[in-house]
Amino acid sequence: MNILAIETSCDETAIALVRVKNNNFEVIEDLVSSQIKVHAPFGGVVPNLAAREHLKNLPILLKKILQKHRVTSQKIDIIAVTQGPGLIPALLIGTNAAKALAYVWKKPLVGVHHIAGHIYANFISSCHCEEQSDEAIPGKTGSPRSLRSLAMTKNLFPILALIVSGGHTQLILMKKHMDFKIVGETLDDAAGEAFDKVARILNLGYPGGPAVAAEAAKFSILNFQFSNKSKFQNSKLKIDSKFKIKNSKFCLPRPMINSGNLNFSFSGLKTAVLYIVRDNQKILKNKKLKSELCAEFQQAVIDVLVSKTIRAAKKYRPKTILLGGGVSANKELRAQLGETVKKEMPNARYQIPDTRYSLDNAAMIAVAGYFQYKLSKNKKKFLNNWKNLEANAGLPLK
Ligand code: KG4
Ligand code: ZN
Repeated sequence: MNILAIETSCDETAIALVRVKNNNFEVIEDLVSSQIKVHAPFGGVVPNLAAREHLKNLPILLKKILQKHRVTSQKIDIIAVTQGPGLIPALLIGTNAAKALAYVWKKPLVGVHHIAGHIYANFISSCHCEEQSDEAIPGKTGSPRSLRSLAMTKNLFPILALIVSGGHTQLILMKKHMDFKIVGETLDDAAGEAFDKVARILNLGYPGGPAVAAEAAKFSILNFQFSNKSKFQNSKLKIDSKFKIKNSKFCLPRPMINSGNLNFSFSGLKTAVLYIVRDNQKILKNKKLKSELCAEFQQAVIDVLVSKTIRAAKKYRPKTILLGGGVSANKELRAQLGETVKKEMPNARYQIPDTRYSLDNAAMIAVAGYFQYKLSKNKKKFLNNWKNLEANAGLPLK
């Protein structure tokens, strides 16, 4: 089965061609046109500008993929598109293009939830694409077993997914494919949003996540040490900080780390950084201080994400713990969550996507669309989606 997928929920125009054979997902092509340069001067994504860029770039990417792979309607079995959540002007461009294709080619059209896409990025088996990221090399980062796709793995469920992106921070429990239960989520800012805002406070540019991570990396990893005060062993799981920065000048809060539930809050952490910088303007000019503050901020986010994920894992006893969303490209998060899962939940499988598929892409939409289509008892409804499908900025995860 061949799937053509489109993703335009935010600031990446993405299109992919994915072949499914014996439950193996092979990415034939995966194109992403980034809009970073367009939004950078504004310090964040401008929805109408994003839509204009999608409108300009999507036909170019479509032509490229169709010509290169001589795609005709006979070669495509289903079309998958991100239906939501996301920026409505941006979603409308992708869904409209997908609807036109589905009508002309008379193909089933599957509207995919963006977060389901981030979860199913972990099922992508192999990629024929020219650029492979460093982290596609097993053993380079995280746990070596984590870069294998979940596609051929048995006994996956229950899955506990930590999805961390620019718009979402959620812990999701799955007892079977396409069955999602949100067991924890942020009450305010998403983790990626906090990275982006801190980058703005520190004049590090947009997007903030990679910029803050790069600054943090300058403050050497050797400065981190396991805190022997870790309370993971404690049955109440009241964790202060798993990793501590030696002699750190800064001490940021770990919001809600001891709240007793599985929710998150990152807006206070961002405000704490804002106040520190307001009261110590020299940080903006002092490279060492800036990277130290970035390291402490990144560690505060990771401490909370890791501790809540382990708390959820102790409660739900998943067979698989997986990571997804743009912030899952963060090397420290990948490595520290992996280490902690190995220690605290040794029987659970730890899974992270190739960093290429951490960030927004259309291959993950193709894989989620495949499961959605395959598991549906009413396949005929997808044939009418060329007229019925509606983009939904607040699409719930069901
Ligand atoms: O999933 P994604 O590509 O788009 C959304 O669905 O929002 O996630 C984008 C987010 C941005 O907030 C970006 O700053 C963050 O992911 N991000 C990172 C890293 N790379 C991207 N955050 C921390 N460390 C990174 N290496
Ligand atoms: Zn995303």
